[in-house]
Amino acid sequence: MERRSFLKFISATTAVSALDTGFAAELPKLKYKPSLSEVDYEGIAFSSEDNVVLTKELQYDLLLKWQDALTEKESFGFNNDYINFVPLTKTGTEGILWVNHESPDRFMILDHVSNKPTKEEIEKEMYSVGGSLVHIKKDDKTGKWTYIKNSPYNRRFSGLSLIPFANNEEIMGKTIAMGTLGNCAGGKTPWNTILTCEENYDLFYGETILNDGMASHLKSELGWENYYDNPPEHYGWVVEIDPISGEAKKHTSMGRMAHECATTTRAKDGRVVVYTGDDSPNEHLYKFISDSHDNLNKGMLYVANLEAGIWTPLDREIHMELGKHFSTQLELLIQTRAAAKMVKGTPLDRPEDIEIHPISKDVFISLTNNKPKGNYHGAILKLMEENADAGSLTFKHEYFLTGGEESGFSCPDNLAFDDQYNLWFTSDIAGGSQNKKQYTPFKNNGLFMVPVKGKNAGKVIQIASAPNTAEFTGPYFSQDYKTLFLSVQHPGETSKDKDNFISHWPNGGNSKPIPCVIQISLK
Ligand code: FEO
Ligand code: CA
Ligand code: CA
Repeated sequence: MERRSFLKFISATTAVSALDTGFAAELPKLKYKPSLSEVDYEGIAFSSEDNVVLTKELQYDLLLKWQDALTEKESFGFNNDYINFVPLTKTGTEGILWVNHESPDRFMILDHVSNKPTKEEIEKEMYSVGGSLVHIKKDDKTGKWTYIKNSPYNRRFSGLSLIPFANNEEIMGKTIAMGTLGNCAGGKTPWNTILTCEENYDLFYGETILNDGMASHLKSELGWENYYDNPPEHYGWVVEIDPISGEAKKHTSMGRMAHECATTTRAKDGRVVVYTGDDSPNEHLYKFISDSHDNLNKGMLYVANLEAGIWTPLDREIHMELGKHFSTQLELLIQTRAAAKMVKGTPLDRPEDIEIHPISKDVFISLTNNKPKGNYHGAILKLMEENADAGSLTFKHEYFLTGGEESGFSCPDNLAFDDQYNLWFTSDIAGGSQNKKQYTPFKNNGLFMVPVKGKNAGKVIQIASAPNTAEFTGPYFSQDYKTLFLSVQHPGETSKDKDNFISHWPNGGNSKPIPCVIQISLK
């Protein structure tokens, strides 16, 4: 079923025909090192080894690790996730890497179990999240990348940074928020700024619960509100960062939710379009169409109705019910989830990362799982906009791949297309669920690929396996497709004993695990 579906996808991509002409068979004769997209990989079996295990054609090196000094004052954050890159040269062998830092791990950061952290300890956690801008460069001889310490391009954004709302919007009496947090995936705009998404914001400052117009505060798991009285309404937004100037702003235009990503493209008429998923069981898929060709400040947010194949606008002037319930459009955007339900947005199985096929323009969406509904292995959904136009308000959809033992993966999350249109994706089986119950056969999380040519065309093959309890996140190809940057997030999470860490990656022995960004290349 999955294979047939994928072959159909291949035939729909015009550029693939050139690859079916025996190009793969000629590879050994080529004098240059091929790119990562040109190899007919052997693949690996599921693995529970506490290491980054790669298919035999590949090797990896560390690029950045938690607490690496970026400047005299700033250091690389914890639990690296989404990666993007803004080139500083035409060849793209030097540039600024953006890396998200999603969540702290109290035991790893504080080096002890702490149920009542002090203000200083909470501030350590606050500094560990957000994102890093890091100047990196490729060595022509070795083909390896290193980061340039003390470069003026190196910057940190954290839970302590002051970030204004776009359009000078005022939320809970303030136009400036303290910090960005829960930074999961993101996107890049056509004008080369970075979008970083605040996902599980309720972990940090809790949430405001509204019952019959009465507001109450649901406490957070991390308890940051015990020291900093920041309102939950300041989080759950898409944040735009200019990697050159370091300017940042929080956009309200794309709504407030557990934003997984902000995948950006253009409508045929040039307006900017952003797709985003709300990663929570039975939450929704959204699309924002900007009024503009060059900013995201104003526009319309839509929620997907899969049954009807329509994008429904979340606008209080269009829907009477929304107009009655929310007194302003900003109030609606703060409560995007409630608004989406009022207009019958389709509940989905944790919509996570989104990528757009470079040729067909089909929109691929990872639905990681929905455990409350008994969907343990998730799927990749394909959405086909009318006339392949991101500006369309109608679409068709089909399931592209379904997770499970037969298809060889579970819990798809981050997606990436390479320059030959092979689809790469990572899995996100929760740390505490790996190698247990329904997830036993899949062992540790992995990096997978669906090649469009070669002996495995149309099949899911595993390219890499992650260290114990870790998750690969943020796959990003260099401009020449010879390096794949990849985050190794939360190795050894759930460890509670310094003498018995669940993972010892990357240093081995009895060492403490460290989240790192790695660079994968051909041997
Ligand atoms: Fe942070 Fe939904 O992954
Ligand atoms: Ca993710
Ligand atoms: Ca995830």
